[in-house]
Amino acid sequence: MKLTGKTAIITGGARGIGFATARRFLAEGANVALWDVQAGLFDEALRRLEVGPERVRAYEVDVTSREQVQQTIAKVEADLGAVDIFVNNAGITRDSMFHKMTDDQWDAVLNVNLKGVFICGQEAALRMRERGRGVILNTSSVVGLYGNVGQTNYAATKFGVIGLTKTWAKELGRKGIRVNAVAPGFTLTEMVKTVPAPVLEKMQEKTSLNRLGEPEDIAAAFAFLASDDAAYITGQVLSVDGGMTL
Ligand code: CAA
Ligand code: NAI
Repeated sequence: MKLTGKTAIITGGARGIGFATARRFLAEGANVALWDVQAGLFDEALRRLEVGPERVRAYEVDVTSREQVQQTIAKVEADLGAVDIFVNNAGITRDSMFHKMTDDQWDAVLNVNLKGVFICGQEAALRMRERGRGVILNTSSVVGLYGNVGQTNYAATKFGVIGLTKTWAKELGRKGIRVNAVAPGFTLTEMVKTVPAPVLEKMQEKTSLNRLGEPEDIAAAFAFLASDDAAYITGQVLSVDGGMTL
């Protein structure tokens, strides 16, 4: 088991990629805190994980609130131990063609996908710096490398996540903290349910492996990057997209 004795926080952990990552981290021996704004999903998520509160707990928190993030990290550290791994996974879409995109759509996506990552990453890093160790993992996207029709706001955030990943890696390496990003391709979660079927079919055809991603495919990459197997890897973006970007 790669993560025995580690404590991890996973934002957006109640479903989708975050939930699969929680399940994988638990299987690798970590203690896990699920963070999510949708507390209504917690009972079902915890039931499916089949692990007791000494190893996994769920916390209602909005990643865009500095106050909630500060308070909740402190709670997690009291409940499950000092945070070794922080996974910035929470994210949203508000798709629209560029010429029709509203300020509200722009602001909503920038706030969660970029400001939320800034706040959470900073609060995690402050604690990790004191201890001289830690891993921060961010979630970009194939859209953060190549753009996508209808996603001006989302693409801006996912390109931005790569910029802050590389910057944090440069600043925090000497403090014993590694920072990497995963760039998933189109992955079968609630998020892709807004995508019209013909667009999704086209996306599948673009992959070398001729299939869309499963949340577990992305979770495996997070588990690798969180573990000591990746001890000499920092500032990188790992594409997990079935060869869509070849
Ligand atoms: N590639 C090329 N052209 C596209 C396209 C695509 N992927 N998607 C739409 N278009 C074209 C349409 O064919 C249409 O062309 P015409 O004007 O010539 O008819 C034009 O763009 C406008 O499209 P719509 O008629 O669909 O316009 P709309 O205003 O009703 O909807 C939209 C626009 C909301 C962007 C809708 O097309 C849509 O939802 N597209 C999918 C966006 C997408 O891929 N989102 C990914 C969400 S999952 C995610 O974000 C996770 C991740 O990281 C991958
Ligand atoms: P999802 O929509 O299934 O799950 C996202 C979770 O984040 C939800 O449980 C939601 O409640 C939570 N969340 C949203 N806003 C929040 C906030 N302000 N505070 C706390 N939690 C919040 O989405 P999915 O697919 O699991 O996405 C996870 C991450 O992976 C996102 O960052 C997404 O952009 C990224 N991604 C997803 C891809 C896909 O095709 N599904 C592809 C590439 C990247």
